[in-house]
Amino acid sequence: MSDIETRLTKLRDEINYHLYRYHTLDDPVISDAEYDHLLNELRTLEEEHPEYITPDSPTQRIGAEPLSIFEKVNHPIPMTSLGNAFDDADMRSWLARIGRILPDGVTVADLEFVVEPKIDGLAIALTYENGLLVRGATRGNGTVGENVTPNIRTIKNIPLRIPAKSNGLEPPQRIEVRGEVYMPIAEFNAFNKAQLEKGDRVYANPRNFAAGSLRQLDSKITAQRPLAFFSYAIGYVEGADIQTQQQALDYLNELGFPVNPDILHTGDMESVLDFIHTWMERRNQLPYDADGAVVKIDSFDLQEQLGVVGNAPRWAIAYKFPAQEATTKLLAVKGNVGRTGQITPYAELEPVNIGGVTVSQATLHNYDDVAKKDIREGDTVVVKRAGDVIPQVVKPILDLRPADSVPVQPPERCPVCDEPTSRQGDDVALFCINAACPAQLVRQIEYFVSRAAMDIEGFGIKIGEQLAVEGLLHDIADIYFLERDQLLGLEGFAEKKADNLLTGIEQSKQQPFDRFITGLGIRYVGSTVSELITAAFPSIDQLSQASQADLESIEGVGPRIAESIVAWFSRPANQALIEKFRQAGVTLASAKPAGGDDTPQSLTGLTFVITGTLPTWSRNDAKEFIEQHGGKVTGSVSKKTDYLVLGENPGSKANKAESLNIPTLDEESLRKLGRTAKSA
Ligand code: IVH
Repeated sequence: MSDIETRLTKLRDEINYHLYRYHTLDDPVISDAEYDHLLNELRTLEEEHPEYITPDSPTQRIGAEPLSIFEKVNHPIPMTSLGNAFDDADMRSWLARIGRILPDGVTVADLEFVVEPKIDGLAIALTYENGLLVRGATRGNGTVGENVTPNIRTIKNIPLRIPAKSNGLEPPQRIEVRGEVYMPIAEFNAFNKAQLEKGDRVYANPRNFAAGSLRQLDSKITAQRPLAFFSYAIGYVEGADIQTQQQALDYLNELGFPVNPDILHTGDMESVLDFIHTWMERRNQLPYDADGAVVKIDSFDLQEQLGVVGNAPRWAIAYKFPAQEATTKLLAVKGNVGRTGQITPYAELEPVNIGGVTVSQATLHNYDDVAKKDIREGDTVVVKRAGDVIPQVVKPILDLRPADSVPVQPPERCPVCDEPTSRQGDDVALFCINAACPAQLVRQIEYFVSRAAMDIEGFGIKIGEQLAVEGLLHDIADIYFLERDQLLGLEGFAEKKADNLLTGIEQSKQQPFDRFITGLGIRYVGSTVSELITAAFPSIDQLSQASQADLESIEGVGPRIAESIVAWFSRPANQALIEKFRQAGVTLASAKPAGGDDTPQSLTGLTFVITGTLPTWSRNDAKEFIEQHGGKVTGSVSKKTDYLVLGENPGSKANKAESLNIPTLDEESLRKLGRTAKSA
């Protein structure tokens, strides 16, 4: 092994260990900064020596090229489902059934059980060969699943190589680890909240979010979704002798797989039931959505003898928790106006206790949904809580409907400003399109000044509301025309508070252009999209004139986003808004990449050739970048070429480079290479 390979191996082992400490044990031993430092060193070295990149490198967790379909995979050992029990009596009859078919000499009293939370996610199977993760597959129909390996690799607590801890354990030659991929509730709620703010779709529950994230053809999207994993079974193993479920869990834990800590091993059915009842009551305290508990007979020997009926084993059963549902009276349907003007219906309910929480409001998604489910004021309705999420109205109970009830009509006027509402295209959403609607204005201001956007210190929701109510703000640009005397006339504004606010506002004029675009609150345009579009159109004039096709040519920008941007800039009121920002002196263009003495001359001595269409840069941009960082760009590939910068639809240069074994870079890796100062 060369020195570089040795260093790379050491770095990978170290980083994988810290990932394990952080994501599996929840007990990091180094700071985030130290971790980033290690990862940066690894990235840099791998960029310089792409020939040494290995599949278990932590840099390989960021997602790969999109797939067009998922390949089918056969499960060598079928992934069965489970029979259900709904109460203690069901559990006792399960035990009695087993008792009748136990082999001679074994009685029910000899049985040992392992009880595990039943996590509401997706079952997957992970295959490791000589310690290396080679495949991750979904359960599918139990016999045939889908190969989702690139997506699996992005899940941080799934080891890419085992053992994931340095305990001297040898990995088995082959092992298939089974378990559940799930979305932690906190992450689910945060994601949905951000989606709502953007006016984007929300997921109904953590399970749907996990499924939607795991079954992405583009693993780069999965990489941005905070999925997690718990292992609960071994499909098969070669090179280890495991005889019981408890041993299997211990072994998985030793190999560095995440194993649920809330597991009971007991020989007593009453303890099993106690344990389940406890978790049933405390299910809201778990960081994940559990829909029951799985009870398994511990001994593999007995498991085999008890066998499978249909597609469910006799030796295990799922005790389902009761749904978190209740019925109550729907008092009124009201509309809530969001930042984009979208009006979302919600139900005011007679307060009802669901799983220990008093619920008096529930979401109704949209007016089409209300019509489809025929939910009416005065109805007795079923209300459900999924995880920690906003309660939902599931359905009306028609038998209890008052005779005089009438269907809910979508409001023709905005509940806040009383201006006419409208639908946009065939979208189910209903909008208040009055840009001056106070409900929208307050939320727009809140968003504009928020951390994600202009990040104005000291400018909270309360202040936004106060300024709007006092009539000092009629649109978001008015922030930049506030005067000190106006502020001093307001309740609670002493000199210091007014001055601090004005300083914060003044400083925000220098915020990067993409933050400004984020702050405009254009539908579907959050910080990620803003970064993409301002990289391609680095000034407000360029961006506001970009056509639908121009915008769609940016990787990561689809028709829906492009249409929304074009529509936003085409509205005269919005053009006037931009003019106000311009007058105020807000930064409306990206800073040119620093070309002066500050730029690291990281590409000195390297020769590049550029071919194909890059996602955000023109070829000239790429050339400028390389030259500013000290590199050289030539027109044709030769033995002297160090890197080929490769875009979409490349020409013959790509073939030539391949035949000469010249490494290629995409735009992103070029930027990274430029950022990393040369160590030589
Ligand atoms: S054991 C024969 N253990 O429940 C054993 N399953 O209906 C089959 N699940 O598809 C699975 N947590 O997605 C097992 N601790 C756990 C589980 C669990 C969740 C899910 C799994 C499976 C479904 C069975």
